[in-house]
Amino acid sequence: MQTHTATALNSPRYAKTIEVSKRVRWDIDHDVIRGRNFDLAHPFLPDGLSLADELPFLSPSEHRFLSQVQGRTYANMFGLVERFIGAKMLELSRDHWLGDQTALEAIVRVTDEELKHQELFRRIELLVAAHMPAGYRFDVSPNDVAAFVLGKCTWAVLALTCHIELFSQAHYRASIDTAPDLSPLFKDVFLFHWREESQHAVIDELEWEREDAKLENDAQRDAAVDDLIALVVGVDGILQAQAKADAGYFLQVCGMAQEGARAEQVNATVLKAYRWQYIVSGALEPRFQQMLGKLVSGTQMERIQTALAPLTYAVPARAQAMSAMVQ
Ligand SMILES: [Fe+2]
Ligand SMILES: [Fe+2]
Repeated sequence: MQTHTATALNSPRYAKTIEVSKRVRWDIDHDVIRGRNFDLAHPFLPDGLSLADELPFLSPSEHRFLSQVQGRTYANMFGLVERFIGAKMLELSRDHWLGDQTALEAIVRVTDEELKHQELFRRIELLVAAHMPAGYRFDVSPNDVAAFVLGKCTWAVLALTCHIELFSQAHYRASIDTAPDLSPLFKDVFLFHWREESQHAVIDELEWEREDAKLENDAQRDAAVDDLIALVVGVDGILQAQAKADAGYFLQVCGMAQEGARAEQVNATVLKAYRWQYIVSGALEPRFQQMLGKLVSGTQMERIQTALAPLTYAVPARAQAMSAMVQ
């Protein structure tokens, strides 16, 4: 009953996402790809995300190639997480079937858009694969990951989803949009993606709060926090495996030794970049911190921070240098 009242109060916010979603809606071929291909003369991911500038021994072409390997994985990672995000949204829509029809429509649109995004990222993988040297691997199965993630409670899945959809916007605004010389097609993929993700983050927040209101006591919220920590550990496991695969592919294509000091630096930097991209940048997003701070107790927040502590080294060196100058 209480959650129905809360949904009715939030009806204008759901309605706003529908209005914007209709206005920004795009088509994969007509608006994004437009018959174009990837030009490997341009980087894909900017240094602020790839951290390729933390490997000063790379030649300009190696530097660019590292940004392209990571950019390829970046598109694949979104395709991966959108499988469980779409499924969770469909499941949540059930609560609104016979309730607020505006909330139902807003959630159905998110699911529809995530299905389109998965198709976009599959298309991008095919286009990139046609131009890049053989040997790249992305062996993580979207359904295996979805089975693991959807096995955790909805509160934790929504927390992870909100975090992902907020960092996808932050990356575009802070890094991809402003980077000079990026592949025009790569930039457009994430411009159009960002336009629809803005509405998704609002839905995540509304649904996460609605789910939080269902928790009856602190023990239940403690268990939800446990699930969120387990999800972060699971994501980090995927990142460790993919960083190893991508660093190995990069070294092989560049003709660099798979072992030795430089190989170790490449491996460590790719893992650091992935932890920055997929975990730490989102955890530091003020809007995410504000949401989480509103829903958990001080002790629960401390538990989350302790779990994240081994990963917080993963911020760009230049950002660390700037914050040291400010302090
Ligand atoms: Fe998406
Ligand atoms: Fe999304």
